[in-house]
Amino acid sequence: ILLNYFGNYVPNAWTQDNGCTLCEVDTIDLSAVDVHPNVTIGVFIEQPTPFLPRFLDILLTLDYPREAVKLFIHNKEVYHEKDIKVFFDKAKHEITTMKIVGPEENLSQAEARNMGMDFCRQDENCDYYFSVDADVVLTNPRTLKILIEQNRKIIAPLVTRHGKLWSNFWGALSPDGYYARSEDYVDIVQGNRVGIWNVPYMANVYLIKGKTLRSEMNERNYFVRDKLDPDMALCRNAREMTLQREKDSPTPETFQMLRPPKGVFMYISNRHEFGRLLSTANYNISHYNNDLWQIFENPVDWKEKYINRDYSKIFTENIVEQPCPDVFWFPIFSEKACDELVEEMEHYGQWSGGKHHDSRISGGYENVPTDDIHMKQIGLENVWLHFIREFIAPVTLKVFAGYYTKGFALLNFVVKYSPERQRSLRPHHDASTFTINIALNNVGEDFQGGGCKFLRYNCSIESPRKGWSFMHPGRLTHLHEGLPVKNGTRYIAVSFIDP
Ligand SMILES: *[C@@H]1O[C@H](CO)[C@@H](O)[C@H](O)[C@H]1NC(C)=O
Ligand SMILES: *[C@@H]1O[C@H](CO)[C@@H](O)[C@H](O)[C@H]1NC(C)=O
Ligand SMILES: *[C@@H]1O[C@H](CO)[C@@H](O)[C@H](O)[C@H]1NC(C)=O
Ligand SMILES: *[C@@H]1O[C@H](CO)[C@@H](O)[C@H](O)[C@H]1NC(C)=O
Ligand SMILES: *[C@@H]1O[C@H](CO)[C@@H](O)[C@H](O)[C@H]1NC(C)=O
Repeated sequence: ILLNYFGNYVPNAWTQDNGCTLCEVDTIDLSAVDVHPNVTIGVFIEQPTPFLPRFLDILLTLDYPREAVKLFIHNKEVYHEKDIKVFFDKAKHEITTMKIVGPEENLSQAEARNMGMDFCRQDENCDYYFSVDADVVLTNPRTLKILIEQNRKIIAPLVTRHGKLWSNFWGALSPDGYYARSEDYVDIVQGNRVGIWNVPYMANVYLIKGKTLRSEMNERNYFVRDKLDPDMALCRNAREMTLQREKDSPTPETFQMLRPPKGVFMYISNRHEFGRLLSTANYNISHYNNDLWQIFENPVDWKEKYINRDYSKIFTENIVEQPCPDVFWFPIFSEKACDELVEEMEHYGQWSGGKHHDSRISGGYENVPTDDIHMKQIGLENVWLHFIREFIAPVTLKVFAGYYTKGFALLNFVVKYSPERQRSLRPHHDASTFTINIALNNVGEDFQGGGCKFLRYNCSIESPRKGWSFMHPGRLTHLHEGLPVKNGTRYIAVSFIDP
């Protein structure tokens, strides 16, 4: 292992001044081939994993000819079967060979990984085996091509957890075979040293040549060894592999002398940005749309899924509108955020009915009641407050210069207006310094009528945009009313901020 590490630097394999001098040696140029090599992609969903539909969609956006791809999927979770079904219906038009092994097979992780690897090993036409776990977010569609072009027996793209030193490789091993930090680990993870690196352990996503699987690695059960985790077993077996003696070869002793145990090198590449790793810890699947709760554990992915694509333009392109005096209007939620929040509330279903007596609030009496469900009732309160501090506070500072919000709110709720239930809301002030009011569906499509009227300015907004929020002062100048919904159901999310 120490020699392998030295090999990354000696002689001049990598230097501070010249970088990686071996990276272009013995590579393949895929743009020059007529037919792309055949790749079997092994996909492993071994635990409930946030953002899985996106993970599956990314497989279909990999830049690689579809006709050269076969797919093996192991899904251990009943929870994800609906996602697999949706994916299968999309993918079957593009990928002709797909083998899906579901939770009913009750495979251990090691058995599943062996099965995926065998799927390539036993197929003479399989040139590469690309193994990807569900917690890998490949943001670089060229990943597969880049790895193939690097032309190594085993190579993994570096992926890290956002903002952390956590990654999918180890630079060194402790005496008992577990993680140890190598001298160059941090520099490699942070991209201060760029190249391809011979390492003793890699996991989550890697490419292995089919030929290697059928020769040096033709032994089965690569993922089983003592009581090691399957990935540790794979790496240890690759490091310490002994060639199988064939029937007619010399005695075991002579064989050992002629063919001493010899590992297959594992490399990690950080020559490109490939993607990141999700955290799957604390993924609670007891809700309906569980990704909504991932704002703390996987903030980058939460933002990508739930925050409006145009949100950043609030700060770069002045897109905030002002339809009424001191009522600011800006994009905040994606379509998915709106849909999932409404679904979550309807799934919970305990709408308040718009009664004056309300045991959910202090005092137990609501003067201007709406038909609503509080974020607290579905356990989303902490997420919601974090969202306000992360995404609403910066907008507040922009439109109400000099006001630094504490991002504190006691009342956060989704309101439902419909002709059959509550259709409108009489004029009132809010118990807030300022209020946000996010439209969760579309006027004209999902409902007719509705809107908000600010009486002091005789100004109404009758065409709210789905995913856009109003922000207006709460308790003095902006007396307002909810205009009647004439047909369908209108949903809004409201927070009374800094009460
Ligand atoms: C890929 O596999 C197909 C059979 O599935 C075979 O006809 C073709 O020659 C293979 N391509 C390469 C580049 O090996
Ligand atoms: C699944 O496998 C485990 C371990 O092999 C076993 O203990 C368990 O009973 C199996 N469950 C079912 C439903 O077959
Ligand atoms: C998951 O969420 C439910 C509902 O909010 C809660 O009752 C449960 O304790 C949570 N489970 C874990 C492991 O945090
Ligand atoms: C309020 O505005 C409406 C139309 O926008 C107008 O017809 C009405 O006269 C206005 N009322 C007052 C009191 O200015
Ligand atoms: C109300 O909506 C339903 C379906 O969404 C539609 O059939 C009906 O014509 C609408 N009524 C009015 C008065 O717009």
